[in-house]
Amino acid sequence: QWTTSSIVDEQVWRIAEQIGDGRAICGLSGGVDSAVAGALVQRAIGDRLTCVFVDHGLLRVGERTQVERDFVTATGVNLVTVDARERFLDALGGVTDPEEKRKIIGREFIRVFEQAERDLKAQGDYKFLVQGTLYPDVVESGGGEGTANIKSHHNVGGLPDDLQFELVEPLRLLFKDEVRRVGLELGLPATIVGRQPFPGPGLGIRIIGEVTADRLETLRAADAIAREELTAAGLDQEIWQCPVVLLADVRSVGVQGDGRTYGHPIVLRPVSSEDAMTADWTRLPYEVLERISTRITNEVPEVNRVVLDVTSKPPGTIEWE
Ligand code: XMP
Repeated sequence: QWTTSSIVDEQVWRIAEQIGDGRAICGLSGGVDSAVAGALVQRAIGDRLTCVFVDHGLLRVGERTQVERDFVTATGVNLVTVDARERFLDALGGVTDPEEKRKIIGREFIRVFEQAERDLKAQGDYKFLVQGTLYPDVVESGGGEGTANIKSHHNVGGLPDDLQFELVEPLRLLFKDEVRRVGLELGLPATIVGRQPFPGPGLGIRIIGEVTADRLETLRAADAIAREELTAAGLDQEIWQCPVVLLADVRSVGVQGDGRTYGHPIVLRPVSSEDAMTADWTRLPYEVLERISTRITNEVPEVNRVVLDVTSKPPGTIEWE
């Protein structure tokens, strides 16, 4: 019988065994997976772990603060923040294919870590890289038995061949709800443990079309409004997640004030799920949808329509990309 504390004990033991007296780097994405993976490794090897937070510019409003303040306060972990916003924008320039985006983002992530590792060399040799890969990531990237490669998760499929680290993946056999329980067991705050899942490649795969600084700005503003209203309505913990997507390659005619507009649609994708392997679209109250729609079209100038995705998974996936 597996209890949460026995999972923690077992993983801490395995991590200590794998890393020995070595040092590890953990990339924090701001999400629950990397936070829990990092906290587990911290428990196993203490200050021989350094967490690296890459601001790749594909983050949502407030996420950097959440890592730099909440996670550090909860764990006391060593944290290095790298501002790589320009680097990622350059690498993504002109790219519209979602698989290509994922590969570029995954590759740049690793390169940034390698650079961070070189910068940390003064303290010793960092040979291990901690990743918050979950069981569904492994399965969907074709790592499970008899499964097809549906898409490249950036923490599995996008790794370069010349990876200079040995991977430590303590969540590889766990589902999301188990990861949350492990996080609580480790004393992480509810703001982190209860956070809705957010993909590693961030807003980069929620812009349909090329990723540019302006489009990121637009999507960030719309996403912040949707999250604010869902939280205000007490719904953020009820739904599994609500991707907000910018159809940057689509324009449609609208009317606002006295004038014609020719703007982009924003898609709301609220879903209910147990483990992200399947999902149902969430029947959000009309009043909440109305508030989100009114605010986004009023407050985000480039957006003139808000549409609701009413597709389950399957046949849709949760993310649009
Ligand atoms: P899909 O779109 O495949 O998403 O139905 C399933 C769940 O996985 C999240 N997701 C990711 N998480 N790295 C991650 O850590 C990724 O590359 C990635 N892609 C999707 C998605 O948000 C949903 O919760």
